[in-house]
Amino acid sequence: MKTVAVLGSTGSIGRSALDVLSRHTGEFTVVGLSAGSNAGLLKQQADRFNVKLLALEKKGTDLFSDAKNKSVPFSEKINLSPFSVMWGGDGATELIKASKPDFVINGISGAAGFLPSLEAIRQGAVLALANKESLVIGGAFITEEAALTGARIVPVDSEHSAIFQCLAGEDRNEISRIILTASGGPFRTRPKETFSSVTREEALNHPTWSMGKRITIDSATMMNKGLEIIEAHWLFGVPLPLIEVVVHPQSIIHSMVEFHDMSIKAQMGIPDMRIPIAYALSWPGRMNLPLKPLEMKDMGKLEFFDPDEEKFPALKLARSAMEDPKVLPCIMNAADEKAVEGFLKGRIRFDQIIDITTKVMDKLAGSRVDSPADLLELDTKSRYIAETLLS
Ligand SMILES: NC(=O)c1ccc[n+]([C@@H]2O[C@H](COP(=O)([O-])OP(=O)(O)OC[C@H]3O[C@@H](n4cnc5c(N)ncnc54)[C@H](OP(=O)(O)O)[C@@H]3O)[C@@H](O)[C@H]2O)c1
Repeated sequence: MKTVAVLGSTGSIGRSALDVLSRHTGEFTVVGLSAGSNAGLLKQQADRFNVKLLALEKKGTDLFSDAKNKSVPFSEKINLSPFSVMWGGDGATELIKASKPDFVINGISGAAGFLPSLEAIRQGAVLALANKESLVIGGAFITEEAALTGARIVPVDSEHSAIFQCLAGEDRNEISRIILTASGGPFRTRPKETFSSVTREEALNHPTWSMGKRITIDSATMMNKGLEIIEAHWLFGVPLPLIEVVVHPQSIIHSMVEFHDMSIKAQMGIPDMRIPIAYALSWPGRMNLPLKPLEMKDMGKLEFFDPDEEKFPALKLARSAMEDPKVLPCIMNAADEKAVEGFLKGRIRFDQIIDITTKVMDKLAGSRVDSPADLLELDTKSRYIAETLLS
């Protein structure tokens, strides 16, 4: 029996992960769950999976009322029979320390997922990684630590899971290209001149995937693909110029790898995150997952286009961020998180998201990062500057 902690269990990835785990209760036990503020769903999940160790980023809720009126320092553990709840910004990290799971599924959104990923690796757990921000901002620290502890990182992001699957049995020195597919988002064919009038609802209406808000808006600006280029670099050790993006609106081929002999391997399937989550848990084998099969005859045509980098400048921005890989991706991610939040709250227009992100990167370029603590300080600084630009 393998033990699993699901971080971000109340989100889109977290709920899909629990669905997969609920079908394999004889092989996996859930030993920890974490959320940001959704205590109601977290408690339901804890009851359903009989989990005692929980973490919540936001302190105090009616559902854990014993602790509500106590002044609880961040990440102090409180025993609320029958639960132990770890509160605060490092609650998820403390949860990993307390539950010592074999697997950590990291489905937290944003930079908040970085320290829990680092802790999972320090403990030598298998890190099933959906939180791409962990690698985008801290790829150097995470890969260094993984080399020391021998911990395995198995990607959950569908494109990176596809690449990981294409690389099974292959020599990584024989890769000639990684071809990341992108759906192109909801504005693939919309003229750039109209981006200033994009509404929140239009941007949240992703054509093929149902996901959390931040990644959905990032898909609309294509920042998500920019983050994924960086993620692929750290996961597979492939230089940036060999990582290409191709727009594939049907989201059936999840990515491809070309080898020195010009063979290309592609991984395909229905767009359902339960598939890469299951693979991360069962690797190097596969688990039974009876979902709706992909019928080739119903598929119609598969299309591929070059991305329009003038219309979607986030792709170039992400590549340029890797000129200072410990510094600029962290600033870019933090600023983008704040700008996306600002757009969702109606504080800025859609076309200002990447402008603000670029300005914050320009302001803080040349900063120095020598440790994870420096990284978090830079993340805070970037958010502060982004906030001043938002207002
Ligand atoms: N969804 C997808 O299909 C998909 C695909 C590929 C990769 N990913 C990646 O997976 C990650 C999660 O995406 P998602 O779509 O599942 O996001 P989501 O639906 O917004 O869920 C995010 C989860 O993280 C929790 N959370 C948010 N802020 C937190 C904080 N500061 N501290 C601790 N927990 C926090 C949320 O708790 P509350 O519910 O309490 O707010 C929720 O459980 C992202 O990095 C995304 O890029 C997602």
